[in-house]
Amino acid sequence: MAGNFGDHQLGIYLSSLGDAPPPEFPFHIDEWARRAERALPADVWDYVVGGAGDEATQDGNVAAFARHGLMPRMLSGAQDRDLSISLWGIDLPSPLLMAPVGVIGICTEDGHGDLAAARASAATGVPFIGSTLMQDPLEDVARECGDTPAFFQLYTPRNRELAESLVRRAEQAGYRALVVTLDTWTLGYRPRDLRHGTFPQLSGLCLANYTSDPVFQSMVPAGSDPLTTVATWAGLFGDPTLTWDDLAWLRGLTDLPIVLKGICAPDDARRAADAGMDGIYCSNHGGRQAASAPALQFLPGVVEAAGDLPVLFDSGVRTGVDAVKALALGATAVGIGRPYAYAAATGGTPAIEHLLRCLLAEMDLTMGLNGYADLAALRAAGTIPIG
Ligand code: FNR
Repeated sequence: MAGNFGDHQLGIYLSSLGDAPPPEFPFHIDEWARRAERALPADVWDYVVGGAGDEATQDGNVAAFARHGLMPRMLSGAQDRDLSISLWGIDLPSPLLMAPVGVIGICTEDGHGDLAAARASAATGVPFIGSTLMQDPLEDVARECGDTPAFFQLYTPRNRELAESLVRRAEQAGYRALVVTLDTWTLGYRPRDLRHGTFPQLSGLCLANYTSDPVFQSMVPAGSDPLTTVATWAGLFGDPTLTWDDLAWLRGLTDLPIVLKGICAPDDARRAADAGMDGIYCSNHGGRQAASAPALQFLPGVVEAAGDLPVLFDSGVRTGVDAVKALALGATAVGIGRPYAYAAATGGTPAIEHLLRCLLAEMDLTMGLNGYADLAALRAAGTIPIG
C-alpha cells in the first residue's frame, strides 16, 4: 500500500517535532480568503469572490453541504483507503479536480497563474481543467501539467472556425477531455464588477488562447491596438444561438471525451447522454451566472438521469468533508474553484499544492474515520439529512 492521503497531516506533525516550522499557508478556507483579499487588487478580488445578484446562490451553494451528514461506521477495516477513479479510461489517484477558473492567470503575483496551477497539478496528481480564458497559451500550460492528465474547457465561440481551431490545439497539446461550458453564453449580472466598471477580459487580460490562435489572428492581426483585440473577442466570446441541435457538430469535431458543464436539470442530463456526450458536469458556475438554487440540490437528480455516464460536480465545495458528501451523493469527481484561486493569490504553486494536499488529506481522513475504505462503500452509504 502506497499510503493514505491522510498521512500528509502526520508528516506536518512529524516535521514540526523535528524543529521545522509548520507550513506558512492556511489550513482553513476563511484564512485562505483573508490572505487572498490582502494579496489581490480590489477589482480582481471582487471578480473572484463575487457572483450573481445578491449572491444568495453562491452562499446557498456553500450552506447546502451543512444539510447533509455522513453516517459513521465502526470496525469496518478502513485503515487503507482507495480514492482512485477511472474517467474515460484515465486512471486518477483521487476524485478531486481543479475546476476551470478563467482568471487564475492573474491571481498569482507573477501573472502566470495558469502555469502555477498546472505545476501544482503535476506535483499532486489533481487534474487541472484549463479555461479558454488563459493568461498563457494552452500549449504552454499543458506542458507544465507533467504526467497528470489535463482537461480543456471550451467556451464555444460564435465563430465555428475558431471553435474548431481551439479544439484542434487542445488535442494536439495533449488535453485528455473537452469540458464544454454551457451556462455562460452571456455574462451574469454581477454587482461587484459593475461597481468597478470592468472585468479582467475587458482590460485585455486572460485572452492568450485567442491572441495565439491563427483563426483569431486572421481577424485581428498581431500588433493591432488592444481595443480592437478586446472588441473582437467580446463580439465572438459566447454563442447565444447554440442549442441541443449543435451538439452533433461538436461531437463530430473530436474524438476526445466531451463533458457538458452547467447541467442542473435531469432532463438536460438525459439529453446530453442522448447526444453522445461522455460526461455530465453538474454545476451552477459557483453562483456567478444564473441565480438559481444551491447546486448540491441538483446533484442527486442529475446522477440518476446520467445513468452510466460519469458526473462531475462543483459549486460550493470548500472542504474535504464537502467533497466527500458530494461523492456520497453520487458524483464521480468533484471540482473546486475559488479555493484554489485564493491559494494562487496567497502563494502561487506551493500554496495551491498545500491546499490540494490538505483537501486530499481531509477527504481521506473523513472517509476512513467514518468507516468507508473506498468510494463504492461511501456511495452505497449516501448522506443523512441534518436539521
Ligand atoms: C469560474 N468558473 C469558470 N467556469 C468555466 O467553465 N470557465 C471559466 O473560465 C470559469 N471562470 C471562472 C472564474 C472565476 C473567478 C471563478 C470563481 C469561477 C466557474 C468554475 O469552473 C466553477 O464552476 C466554480 O468556481 C465552482 O464554484 P466554487 O468552487 O468557486 O464555489
